[in-house]
Amino acid sequence: MAGRLIVVSNRLADFHKPAAGGLAVALSGILRQRGGVWLGWSGKIVNRGKEDAQIIRTAVGNVEYLSIDLNEEEFNGYYKGYANATLWPILHHRVDLAKFDKASEKIYRLMNARFAKVLLTEIQDDDVVWVHDYHLIPLGEELRAAGKLNKVGFFLHTPLPPSAILATLPNNSSLLSSLFSYDLIGFQSQEDKRNFLNYVEWQFGKDSVEGSKVIRRGKSVVGAFPIGIDVCEFQSIAQSKTAQAMRDGMREEYSKRQLVVGVDRLDYSKGIPHRVHSFGEFLHRFPQMQRSATLIQIASPSRGEIETYADIQRELEALCGSVNGDLGELDWMPVRYIHKTLCQEELAGLYQAAKVALVTPLRDGMNLVAKEFVAAQNPYKPGVLVLSRFAGVAEQMPEALIVNPYDTESVAYAIHRALVMPLAERQERHRALLGKIKDNDLHWWCRSFLQRLTQPEFESRSIKSV
Ligand code: G6P
Repeated sequence: MAGRLIVVSNRLADFHKPAAGGLAVALSGILRQRGGVWLGWSGKIVNRGKEDAQIIRTAVGNVEYLSIDLNEEEFNGYYKGYANATLWPILHHRVDLAKFDKASEKIYRLMNARFAKVLLTEIQDDDVVWVHDYHLIPLGEELRAAGKLNKVGFFLHTPLPPSAILATLPNNSSLLSSLFSYDLIGFQSQEDKRNFLNYVEWQFGKDSVEGSKVIRRGKSVVGAFPIGIDVCEFQSIAQSKTAQAMRDGMREEYSKRQLVVGVDRLDYSKGIPHRVHSFGEFLHRFPQMQRSATLIQIASPSRGEIETYADIQRELEALCGSVNGDLGELDWMPVRYIHKTLCQEELAGLYQAAKVALVTPLRDGMNLVAKEFVAAQNPYKPGVLVLSRFAGVAEQMPEALIVNPYDTESVAYAIHRALVMPLAERQERHRALLGKIKDNDLHWWCRSFLQRLTQPEFESRSIKSV
């Protein structure tokens, strides 16, 4: 790849401290190697009226971070409104929760034009641009409209639902056709990729699709690139002092109990209430396990300013209270619900102390908790992963105990099966899962997306085709 890499995402990696967390680590690593630019929102909301956002530049080594603030109107319309109250629920199959208003859609488009305007002052001819996630779908189209012919790729971190769900979004064809401006459109799973190609055929005609390519305004290649974790990095985090202290502390405190864990952003897509119901059902069906099994559910605060997120928080608090009230004893609480963010080291320690992880989202683009849990396990005495078939990661991890999170009873049985699984079976499943996450790790993901994007198979776009 000749030119620099320019990454654009709504959230900017924190450049003040060494990057922590999957995506930021991988992309920072690649950017450092090649030199490049990362553009994103600073996370701040400022009062600046209608003026354009100020660009703050911070150079760290040969990487330049460009951050822009949002004003209140942009935050409400673009981030809180269209991105997270319209697109997020639809992409996660929750049409019932989606809110749509034209004003937010307009601000979303304007913000994308604003991101593009910043990029236009930066881009050199041989730079490669990689745009991330649903906040920035129309960005490529804006760049093409300004005459930019660079290689531009897009990766969607969320699921992409089937046509009948996409069609509920007002102006869906205008939004989704803006993806045709990208040279490469990447999804997390084969299912997402299929859904997209089916949608394009359905909405734009059969001759719009040729194999895995969309033939509209030039050619766009469509691919599945399941995101991974840095397995070595996470395993060394699991060996850190903080992680080991956490693991030992938990083992001591729960020496007579079997720990089952769930770790999620507090989001309705994660199916946390369904999971708590299933855990309650498990305790009812296997009363001999009462007093011995405990579910620790970590839910990190997320998007609390959006009503649906505040609702799920209330629902979960009430539900955990009721399970504990019904089944708890003076010396045993079945569910410990913790509404805060733990650091990577603490999580790695918790994963090691746990016998079972419940990763049971109702829908998830990928779900890296599943991969981190596997990476953290001791291969001689590994814990068991119970995994929703509706997480993108399930395509790669059939050796987990795959469940339907809506089926309370079968999840209850899977929890029991996981807790009593013989050691040899646990080891065999773990070996297979670890192999998969090592083969398709974070570096593989970055490399394979960028190699594909910079392959000569793409005809250069001409001004006519954009
Ligand atoms: C998901 C999205 C990301 C987003 C993250 C945290 O993983 O795919 O794009 O950054 O959630 O959400 P937030 O709204 O806090 O950025």
